[in-house]
Amino acid sequence: MGSLENRVAVVTGASSGIGAALALALSGAGARLALTAHRRDRLEEVAPGCPGQNFALVGDITDPRHRTALLKETEAAFGGLDILVNNAGLGAWGTFLDSTEEEWRSLFEVNLFAPVLLAREALPGMLKRGRGLILNIASIGGLVAHSDKVSAYVASKHALVGFSRALARDLAGTGIRVKAVCPHLTSTEFFETGPGAEEMSSEAEKFREFMDRPEEVAAGVLAGLEEEGLILFPTPRPARAYSKLRGV
Ligand SMILES: NC(=O)c1ccc[n+]([C@@H]2O[C@H](COP(=O)([O-])OP(=O)(O)OC[C@H]3O[C@@H](n4cnc5c(N)ncnc54)[C@H](OP(=O)(O)O)[C@@H]3O)[C@@H](O)[C@H]2O)c1
Repeated sequence: MGSLENRVAVVTGASSGIGAALALALSGAGARLALTAHRRDRLEEVAPGCPGQNFALVGDITDPRHRTALLKETEAAFGGLDILVNNAGLGAWGTFLDSTEEEWRSLFEVNLFAPVLLAREALPGMLKRGRGLILNIASIGGLVAHSDKVSAYVASKHALVGFSRALARDLAGTGIRVKAVCPHLTSTEFFETGPGAEEMSSEAEKFREFMDRPEEVAAGVLAGLEEEGLILFPTPRPARAYSKLRGV
């Protein structure tokens, strides 16, 4: 992909955490951005902080009309899409038997189906131009079971990594690359949302001092964009965790 100057990126889940940090980093490197999430007030804080051209579109990424509008508005504003950052995601905390079918299905809607369906809609334009990058923000939980009580989350992120792997194979030779970013615990609002958030956030507090910062993750993502290989560990922590837990 080379320089990010004038490249066009869609960043989902740009209202906080890793998505907001990625938006700032990509924009700082010269990319033009379409930002999306639910929280208008938070997007309206992130967007003006981005030095380059950008616009924000509020909506739910699991809504097909929102996904189509996002890609259409990106095309209209910037004339095409170079980088799709599938970052929006949710956690869920609790034992497997306490989790409900509805929780599993809604988690997979956000963590797997939205990225899959956005990629499917973005790819024809990328294929026509013969270039592009699908950047799926997965997790260390997409490679190993990194914690107890996160079965639905780990399953959804393993599915996202598996999808990324298979898509990369299908797209070999087209000029379009796929990368699965696997961060470790990162200090964001992630632990305060999703099913079981109350217990998850008090559990997360015990590890807060060991967490990466979203800015570190974003810097590591940008630094790793040109690396060979599918999996991108944005900081040393997830790489270390992977070598320790890979059998789990
Ligand atoms: N924090 C960690 O420890 C960690 C570790 C590994 C991987 N990750 C992954 O990193 C990604 C970003 O998480 P984060 O840590 O930055 O947490 P975060 O601060 O809670 O950010 C999550 C983002 O996703 C958006 N979002 C959630 N559901 C959405 C929906 N249905 N439609 C549109 N936007 C939606 C949220 O925006 P609104 O609420 O405004 O909609 C928010 O912008 C996630 O995919 C997560 O799984 C996080």
